[in-house]
Amino acid sequence: MGNSVIIDTDPGQDDAVALLLALGSTLDVLAVTVGAGNVPLDLTVKNALKVCDLANRSDLPVYAGAGGPLEGDLVTAEHVHGPSGLDGYDLPPPSRLASKGYAPDKIVELIMNRPVGEVTLCTLGPLTNVALALRLEPKIAKRLSKVVMMGGGFFEGGNTTPAAEFNIYVDPVAAAEVFSSGIDLVMMPLDVTHQVLSNPDRVRAFKEIGNLAGEVVAGWIGFFDRYDMEKYGTEGAPLHDPCVIAYLLEPGLFSGRFCNVEIETESPLTRGMTVVDWWGVSGRTPNAHVMRHVDAEGFFSLLVRTVGML
Ligand code: BDR
Ligand code: CA
Repeated sequence: MGNSVIIDTDPGQDDAVALLLALGSTLDVLAVTVGAGNVPLDLTVKNALKVCDLANRSDLPVYAGAGGPLEGDLVTAEHVHGPSGLDGYDLPPPSRLASKGYAPDKIVELIMNRPVGEVTLCTLGPLTNVALALRLEPKIAKRLSKVVMMGGGFFEGGNTTPAAEFNIYVDPVAAAEVFSSGIDLVMMPLDVTHQVLSNPDRVRAFKEIGNLAGEVVAGWIGFFDRYDMEKYGTEGAPLHDPCVIAYLLEPGLFSGRFCNVEIETESPLTRGMTVVDWWGVSGRTPNAHVMRHVDAEGFFSLLVRTVGML
């Protein structure tokens, strides 16, 4: 797996934790590309810049991309993430504006200018920027090492509709284009992310690190979990997006199966559903490594250790 990564994101508290995990690690993060999702684009860009500042990475390029899905209107999730998208800790305003350039163009440029197999693309939000990049230059599919994405759900159902997970629901057309592109794809669905729940001990562990990043993460999770606790009746919230970065750092924490996944783009009842052929009954060609299990203790220990490096 290539060690250079591009992170496409829509922060979001769990996106922000994922960014900190990447920036505290040995990964060579080339750029952060931002789309609309949890909140509109102006806010997701601002949040990405704030997180880079927090990680002392004000040098890292942050490119703004699509302001909405390929088709239809943008759906956002302020009811989960708060009006700013990053409620729970009041960070200072960003030290700079977004870098010059359009995220899909930059994704293409960064991949095409590097050797085949060097770059891994991590996606933590709707797949709009990636689909636009593929439309601009389909060759990126085979130049990438892989795409590791948070999105979808099968055994757990959906979190936005009974059938659809948020990132796929926001832009199912983009998701369908990415899943059919021939990219080597690793999918982190709700089936996995619902196994990595925060709880009071885990939040305390972040506080006890004793650095600013740990305090901020504890604040974010403390805000973000209230909605999910009520929704799922659990004592904490799933840390969805950090699973993507954790997979790059310690793939052995996860296990799953290579199978076919198709995206429903039409049906009003199931639009945005990821139809996973877990049992291989369709005869369709496998196109995604679908993760199903995670070692939650190992995941949180990696997270606390790495946030402690910031
Ligand atoms: C996904 O949706 C967003 O709310 C989170 O940031 C995560 O990427 C979970 O469904
Ligand atoms: Ca996200």
